[in-house]
Amino acid sequence: MKLNFNRALVTGGAGFIGSHLVDALVAAGCRVAVIDSLATGAISNLEHIRGQIAFHQGDIRDRKILEKAAENCEVLFHLAAVVSVPETVANPVESACVNDLGTLYVLETARRRNVKRVVFSSSCAVYGDDPALPKQESMLPQPCSPYAVQKLTGEHYAQVYHELYGLETTSLRYFNVYGPRQDPSSPYSGVISLFMTHAVSDAVPVIFGDGHQSRDFVYVQDVVRANLLAAVADQADGQVFNVGTGRSVPIKRLWEMIRMLSGATRQPRYEPARAGDIVKSVAGTALIKKHLGFAPDYTFERGLGLTFEWYRESRRAEGARRKTDAS
Ligand code: UD1
Repeated sequence: MKLNFNRALVTGGAGFIGSHLVDALVAAGCRVAVIDSLATGAISNLEHIRGQIAFHQGDIRDRKILEKAAENCEVLFHLAAVVSVPETVANPVESACVNDLGTLYVLETARRRNVKRVVFSSSCAVYGDDPALPKQESMLPQPCSPYAVQKLTGEHYAQVYHELYGLETTSLRYFNVYGPRQDPSSPYSGVISLFMTHAVSDAVPVIFGDGHQSRDFVYVQDVVRANLLAAVADQADGQVFNVGTGRSVPIKRLWEMIRMLSGATRQPRYEPARAGDIVKSVAGTALIKKHLGFAPDYTFERGLGLTFEWYRESRRAEGARRKTDAS
């Protein structure tokens, strides 16, 4: 994609989504700075382009590091956050310090450093369990976790910074993002990262509930493209857009698809539905199509195939490393 800016800062650039965005920016010829505390991000996600970016290890609440990282930056992509919903439930105050106050620091730094535009990573969590489908941006948000409140607060701050200070801001509400580099190490990791890990190690996956619950899974490269479109668009200021596909895949079907891809033989184990699990989630996609010209490039089948290749390759590389270490 042709960009109309030369310098960008990515907060959370060592994370799952952030590192793919950094790759795309570098590939487009942009000079990229990254700030990441490495609390959940991993420097290994940036290893292959480490020499081509300015990496600042630090927290977004460290004003000094943030101001330095934002120097001469034209567009700022704000992805750094406490991204686990259960973690925000366990630690509402600490997570608010990062997700609320941290976002405010980022916006304020953007204002003081004359950054032109900020693209804020929000979440479909802001819709809560309103059963109306598909989720439209015009719906009244019903946040039901500290995480959702924090993301909604970030969106409001972004809008206020646009209205009060003329900072160009756009918020993107991601649906269920999947793809290479998604960390499966927590029991609360995304279901695709967990199922992929089970598939490549021939372990038994768990399906919570009857498996008929479904999600709108969006491939990470499409999320990256939505970010880039928001950065260059003429009609995005002060707005909020869903980033999803408009298609919803049942969890039971998801495991079947992964099983077919991998040749895994295991049947899933069924456990009671998770408390607060929503039945169906699907994005309304008209607004982002109209204003940003965004439609996903990746079908679910293609994205899932690419993701599987990555997990299989990672497993192979890990096995080889263990062998070398042991000898
Ligand atoms: C996702 C987001 C979350 C956001 C929420 C908003 C991710 C990782 N999480 O949660 O940040 O707040 O949308 O709606 O994208 N499942 C299984 N077996 C497993 C793991 C999960 O059956 O081993 C099921 C879950 O019960 C759920 C579905 O798969 O029904 C998706 O789970 P998950 O990937 O954790 O995402 P959400 O719960 O949708």
